[in-house]
Amino acid sequence: MNFDEIIHREETDCIKYDKMEAFLGKGGIIPMWVADMDFATPSFILDALKKRLEHPILGYSYRSEKTMEAIAGWMWRRHGWKINPNQISFSPGVVPAIFLAIQAFSKPSDAVVVQPPVYFPFFSTVSQTQRQLIHNQLLENNGFYTIDFDDLEEKLAKKPSMLLFSNPHNPVGRAWRKEELEKLVDLCYKSGTIIISDEIHSDLILKGFRHIPTAMSHPKAAEITLTLMAPSKTFNIAGLSTSVVIAENADLLKKYNQALEAAHLAQGNIFGNIALEAAYSQGDSWVDSLVHYLQANLQLLDRLCRKHTDKISFRLPEATYLAWVDCRKMGMSDAKLNQFFLNDVGMGVNIGKLFGAGGEGFVRINLAMPRTRVEEALEGLDKALSASKS
Ligand SMILES: Cc1ncc(COP(=O)(O)O)c(C=O)c1O
Repeated sequence: MNFDEIIHREETDCIKYDKMEAFLGKGGIIPMWVADMDFATPSFILDALKKRLEHPILGYSYRSEKTMEAIAGWMWRRHGWKINPNQISFSPGVVPAIFLAIQAFSKPSDAVVVQPPVYFPFFSTVSQTQRQLIHNQLLENNGFYTIDFDDLEEKLAKKPSMLLFSNPHNPVGRAWRKEELEKLVDLCYKSGTIIISDEIHSDLILKGFRHIPTAMSHPKAAEITLTLMAPSKTFNIAGLSTSVVIAENADLLKKYNQALEAAHLAQGNIFGNIALEAAYSQGDSWVDSLVHYLQANLQLLDRLCRKHTDKISFRLPEATYLAWVDCRKMGMSDAKLNQFFLNDVGMGVNIGKLFGAGGEGFVRINLAMPRTRVEEALEGLDKALSASKS
């Protein structure tokens, strides 16, 4: 593994590079937006894919027992979560799984709770399926985010069908603690609200923290939780459209599977299944090294932010390679902030407003790239901040 290697991704039909100009309005800058990594997918995954390609027929396939056991093994080794292969299902992606869960567990005009600022497809999947969005905005104090439980209790009194929960949270970087999860589950259980727990970032837990699967956090949690995980972020294989759905409650799993089968999506794709099995059976030490590397990248940003506390502030995340940077002291509108990052800094970032209420004045920066690229980007940020008026 060589995370320092610079790999050119241009002209590979890669969204982050090849669509940067189309989406952000400017090319030729450092792309720190789409949440994938500029590191090579590990060789044990590429080798497994190459081996399969030695066979010339790529017909219909299924997820073998070995694949399901690899998933269960990973959950146990990495998160201490004991699940059985028969509690596992599939989705081509975590967002598609949210869409299917909405179909399975609610009907049009039902309410669905989200906790902004949050990964923005949470909003669109709810509104595009004609459900009603209810906001339980996170509380922020000095860069540290918590759940507003009083507000949540009020919102749950309206009997929403489900809560879309991000654990760890994108973009605010929290790896929720046991006490927080317990309280959340307790409230949802009492109100009969199903928790769709998006745990796609659960393998990227930074030093000093741990991931607690929501379904493990409370004696009643497994009854009401559908968990969504994936090797896509962890191993940089998002293009293989393969993720994992877990429910210990057989009734929840059955309803989810009915929605999956109605859409004829249950089969998945042959390469995704092979990559998933290789990732979850051989990936432990690779992920440990990755997290170590990401931690150092995040620390570089932290150091720079401390130099410019009059303009920006940043709290190191507990998980993910995504930095949620508070630029409110710069006093810029979101449109101006966007222009500042594009034109003055030379970074393509996600503007915080995209993540809903509470995101105004923030940017999300993806630091999953070789160290020298991060240093180059931070040099641009340092210069631009020094030149900007406070
Ligand atoms: C919290 C969260 N959920 C889901 C996704 C996307 O998942 P998928 O590509 O599997 O739909 C992302 C990607 O950035 C994410 O951050």
